[in-house]
Amino acid sequence: MKIRKAVIIAAGYGTRFLPATRSQPKEMLPLVDRPIIQYNVEEAINSGIEQVIFVTARGKHTMEDYFDDCFELEQVLERKGDEERLQQMREVSRMADVCYIRQKKQLGIGHAILTAKDIIGNEPFAVMLPDDIIDSKVPTLKSMIDIYSKYGAGVVAVERVSKEDTRKYGVIEPKDVSQGVYEVLSLVEKPEPEKAPSRLGIVGRYMLTPEIFEAIKITPPGAGNEIQITDAMQILLKTQKLYAYELEGLRYDTGSPLGWLKANIAFALKRDDIRLGLQDYLDRL
Ligand code: G1P
Repeated sequence: MKIRKAVIIAAGYGTRFLPATRSQPKEMLPLVDRPIIQYNVEEAINSGIEQVIFVTARGKHTMEDYFDDCFELEQVLERKGDEERLQQMREVSRMADVCYIRQKKQLGIGHAILTAKDIIGNEPFAVMLPDDIIDSKVPTLKSMIDIYSKYGAGVVAVERVSKEDTRKYGVIEPKDVSQGVYEVLSLVEKPEPEKAPSRLGIVGRYMLTPEIFEAIKITPPGAGNEIQITDAMQILLKTQKLYAYELEGLRYDTGSPLGWLKANIAFALKRDDIRLGLQDYLDRL
């Protein structure tokens, strides 16, 4: 089944990365030489998504400009005869059909998704939380779209987390279906370790059905006093099945300095033009 639209939630303050995020969006911090948000858009496009809907907020305009044409810069590169960079810059603005919605108040991920209701309409769609960058052979969203097509029900990505860390994630109660695929029997946002139904924590990738919007509307504020997508999915479980996909590859939480540094090193070591120099430096540290 063709999934055409992805919502990228990019309205958060990035408090875990202060002061770097005091006056710039966390999504624009670089991973090697591209902003974090570009990796998300590439994952979406490589999964067959045609339109990317960003939910943004105040202070995020550099992200909006990023995917736009940059006429002055292109002119300068053209004059210099730097054909390679010129092509790279053109590719960024042609990468995806994008649109932006502003979430005026940061009332939670569920609320942010609800702001995209009119643009999504009545079709299934993907949601991405851009802090989570996943390095995998097959794009995670693509694997999830395949599961959606097979079962005709929503899908969340999960990863095994440590017992202590369940309080940082939405956590599912799983029932084995096949290798790496579970049916979700229940789910809870940020449980204390002793109350967690498993150690399978939700990672920032979702395949949702349009019925989620009605569920979000009746979801009361939950953990952190925010309208949580996890709680809305729990409500929808009464009428629809939900599946979980245990992701393959490595996930980096780039919303924290440590996760961001790890991702930078891992992605830089994959680059032919940087690997040897970086490896040599790391060996000498
Ligand atoms: C959000 C979701 C949570 C999920 C996590 C993944 O939490 O609410 O269910 O496990 O993203 O990164 P946040 O990190 O915004 O607190």
